[in-house]
Amino acid sequence: MRLRAPVAAGLALALHIACSSTTPAATAPPPDPPLEPTATQQAEAERLLTGPDWYRHAIFYEVYVRSFQDSNGDGIGDFKGLTSRLDYIKSLGVDALWLMPIMKSPFKDSGYDVADYDALLPEYGTDADFQELIAQAHSRKIRIFVDLVYNHTSDLHPWFQESRRGKDDPKADWYVWSDTPSAPGNACGTFNAAQFGESAWQFDEQRKQYYYHRFYPGQPDLNFANPDVVKETLAVTRRWLDKGVDGFRCDVIGLLFESDTRAQCGVLQPRTAEYIRKLRGVLDGYPDRAMVAESVLFESPAGYYGTGKDMFHMAFDFDFGYQWGIVFNSETRASLDRSFAAHKGYPEGAQSALVIGSHDVARAFTVAQGKEWRHRRASEIQLLGRGTPFIYYGEELGLRPGTARVVDGRDSARTPMPWTKKEPGHGFTTGAPWLPFGDQAGTTSVEAETGARGAMLSHYKSLLALRRGRAVFGTGAMDLVDVGNVSVFAFTRSNAQEAWLVAVNLTESQQSGSAELPGTRAELALGKGTGSREGSRVTLDLPPTESVVLRLR
Ligand code: NOJ
Ligand code: CA
Repeated sequence: MRLRAPVAAGLALALHIACSSTTPAATAPPPDPPLEPTATQQAEAERLLTGPDWYRHAIFYEVYVRSFQDSNGDGIGDFKGLTSRLDYIKSLGVDALWLMPIMKSPFKDSGYDVADYDALLPEYGTDADFQELIAQAHSRKIRIFVDLVYNHTSDLHPWFQESRRGKDDPKADWYVWSDTPSAPGNACGTFNAAQFGESAWQFDEQRKQYYYHRFYPGQPDLNFANPDVVKETLAVTRRWLDKGVDGFRCDVIGLLFESDTRAQCGVLQPRTAEYIRKLRGVLDGYPDRAMVAESVLFESPAGYYGTGKDMFHMAFDFDFGYQWGIVFNSETRASLDRSFAAHKGYPEGAQSALVIGSHDVARAFTVAQGKEWRHRRASEIQLLGRGTPFIYYGEELGLRPGTARVVDGRDSARTPMPWTKKEPGHGFTTGAPWLPFGDQAGTTSVEAETGARGAMLSHYKSLLALRRGRAVFGTGAMDLVDVGNVSVFAFTRSNAQEAWLVAVNLTESQQSGSAELPGTRAELALGKGTGSREGSRVTLDLPPTESVVLRLR
């Protein structure tokens, strides 16, 4: 890290006496950090969340509607149920929801197989229920993003049904057809053969040709080289904006056009970038809308931002999402350093979307190998690092995985939300849940964790309270800090008003370190570690598995 010029020695000494936290190893436990932001922070948050840059300061929460709250006893979460839980979501300090697919679908891939872009999943509710959800969310200043799945549709979508009729059908070229299980200009196979099938080509008896599907055979890829597909998907986007949604999470958008070389598969193609610019143009026609890209795994998301103004507002940083599970095993920070250093290469205006979990990967509990402390430390990096955090529902409770499988293996991380300790429905349903709860649903329920000292929910609330209304965490600089110890991942966040240090012990043994840091203070804001300042040097002491968040300026 490049260090800032140390403050003049005399001034530093005076301030050190006045402001340092040289408190020796604590004899009494430090007081619990606040679980709620102050009124001043709330007022500042409201200001930051107003206007086109709101998403840079927001906390997003990913919701699987099917598993969140059932309102009619059929065991399936729905819009009315979600609406009834908005106060809980608000109480966390969440500003926006990302709803996994809510459009009509045979549900072969949990809704990522859309059969009608203009109809809602009937089991989730009616158009009126959805409008009520939007109205109730907006009245609480919670915005709503929906999942747009454009790379492919369901094979039950009328477009595909027409397309498969024959080569002369008006929609013949809406999908990717070939006489052979291959096509010139397309060297990419199935995304993940183990999950989605061995071949990316499926023979269709009706049309007597093969169609291309990057995912399940029931998810034929749309042909974006066809201008009608471009026109219609942009029109769909407008219709959703007209319904009042605030933006979109764009599913595998980097796969719209495939590459002609294997090595380039998954790399954003210029023709896909051109489509994304058109999509952005549609959003820019509405005030304060935004979209986040599901960039393709392991590719740098840099390309999804374009100039920083003409493509995506945000893109998921899957590298961090993946690395966090690894650094605790290696006990060295190198790969996390590399991950965040990559942000420096993003165009100005880029805003990373930071995740430690989602509907596609194992629960944080599992990634952390059951070591809850690892999940806590990762959440500190996610919520205080550079970017906009997207919290996957239930991670604030530390939900355990389930074992049942209804749609596919990913169901283990998609289990119903346990609201109460009470079995069998845990407040999620009065009927039988569509998917059994994860392990230890009662003890990880909202009821069990609310107000419980040391609970994961309290940990999340204190982190979210600290972040609230502080622009520095949304848009401030993030500088990696070498404290002279590879087992401590540390960084500063700073802007003109304030500077903070976050330092995480990656191990189960005591770690210490020090670094020259900006500012004149070393005030403990969160964590069980300690920090003390001597002039420009801050020395850290981190008990096993612990961390520290210090205010430096
Ligand atoms: C990415 C989604 O996150 C995943 O759940 C889905 O299976 C694929 N895209 C296909 O839409
Ligand atoms: Ca229901």
